[in-house]
Amino acid sequence: MTAQDVTGASIMLEEVTKTYPGQKKSAVGGLTLEIPAGSIVMFVGPSGCGKTTTLKMINRLIEPTSGKIVINGEDVTGMNGDELRRRIGYVIQAGGLFPHMTVATNIAMVPKMLGWSKEKIAARVDELLELVSLDPELYRDRFPKELSGGQQQRVGVARALAADPPVLLMDEPFGAVDPITRQRLQDELLNIQSEVQKTIVCVTHDFDEAVKLGDWIAIFNEGAQLEQYDSPERILANPASEFVENFIGSGAGLKQLTLTRVNEVDLEEAITTSPGKRASDVLSQVQGAGRKYAVVLDSRGRPLRRLDRRQLSRAEIIDGTYDQSLPVVGEQATLNDALDTMLVASSESALVTGRRDVLLGTITVQTVMEAIAAANGAQDGDHSAPVGLNSGAINIVDINSGAANSDGEPV
Ligand SMILES: Nc1ncnc2c1ncn2[C@@H]1O[C@H](COP(=O)(O)OP(=O)(O)OP(=O)(O)O)[C@@H](O)[C@H]1O
Ligand SMILES: [Mg+2]
Repeated sequence: MTAQDVTGASIMLEEVTKTYPGQKKSAVGGLTLEIPAGSIVMFVGPSGCGKTTTLKMINRLIEPTSGKIVINGEDVTGMNGDELRRRIGYVIQAGGLFPHMTVATNIAMVPKMLGWSKEKIAARVDELLELVSLDPELYRDRFPKELSGGQQQRVGVARALAADPPVLLMDEPFGAVDPITRQRLQDELLNIQSEVQKTIVCVTHDFDEAVKLGDWIAIFNEGAQLEQYDSPERILANPASEFVENFIGSGAGLKQLTLTRVNEVDLEEAITTSPGKRASDVLSQVQGAGRKYAVVLDSRGRPLRRLDRRQLSRAEIIDGTYDQSLPVVGEQATLNDALDTMLVASSESALVTGRRDVLLGTITVQTVMEAIAAANGAQDGDHSAPVGLNSGAINIVDINSGAANSDGEPV
């Protein structure tokens, strides 16, 4: 990642405290946290530990009792809150869409407030729908209730990205959807992030989700006391406390599955075809290559279904209907996700898709097993962790020089 790819802003919380009226204990106590530009930082911790409060202080939906919020070197603690929030995308559970507005109107809200022209807004809405893999023709004029939970969530993400804010805040964005949809939404977020390089702060209850999405994970205890703030790899390898160990839980044994992504392993090239082709030709191709299946693609290279040798020998012409239960994972999926998907489909392999759902190849159980064996013992990179602590005195010297160096890496 180079500096010019990063459109995200660095965020610095400096000794931020929030004490709600009438409460003896602070919900957030003297938290200093550096969030490097262009990175994804995950907040995890037990219920009530102050994650949402911390998140909402970044866009000042909740005003800190004391301390400073600095974004890209600018102290925003005193600036107009509404103006600040127009610069920061915010995604809440289930998308938080306005039910009486269409998808397009929901997405257009902030651009409208910013006074963009009609043409510019319409173009932006379509661009964003494409980005979150919803066909604009089909979805722009629907109402939220005419969408599935996962689709609503995607629109929520599109809306948060509408005015191209440098910062995206997400509070348990994928909490309300089923595991497979959740996995796809996570993959999509990572795909989007690889295109737009925002600074994303995301709260989750799910430690696996934190490991999958996070460049850095902040593990909080009550009062937003930081137990550990580091890379997923280092937290899993060296939990800082018993609290962290308990938090990681029994899943830690399978960590290689969560730490390795599908795009890090070698994929098998798939035999592909398209609707309307002669099945016998495809069958001889599949046999010639010693494969089990051919994958039927639509005109944009997205997989529709798989046909095995028996199906091909029975058919005359390739059928282009879409198979709902097709095992598909995004390239950003973890090996854990891939195995899950194969298990659900009772299949020894799954299709792998990249940006905009285009087919990249096939992953097999065999590949996953080999990758785990190879990854064991591999070492994490040498990036040092961003600053994070709760205390009075700290030595962060020159905030105005930016919290990240010129490579966008944490200082
Ligand atoms: N408006 C409020 N007034 C008083 N106390 C509040 C208010 N909002 C939150 N709190 C308290 O502050 C603490 C932190 O709440 P917060 O919502 O930040 O927790 P959280 O980590 O997001 O929890 P969860 O995982 O359950 O969402 C809790 O003890 C909560 O009861
Ligand atoms: Mg919360």
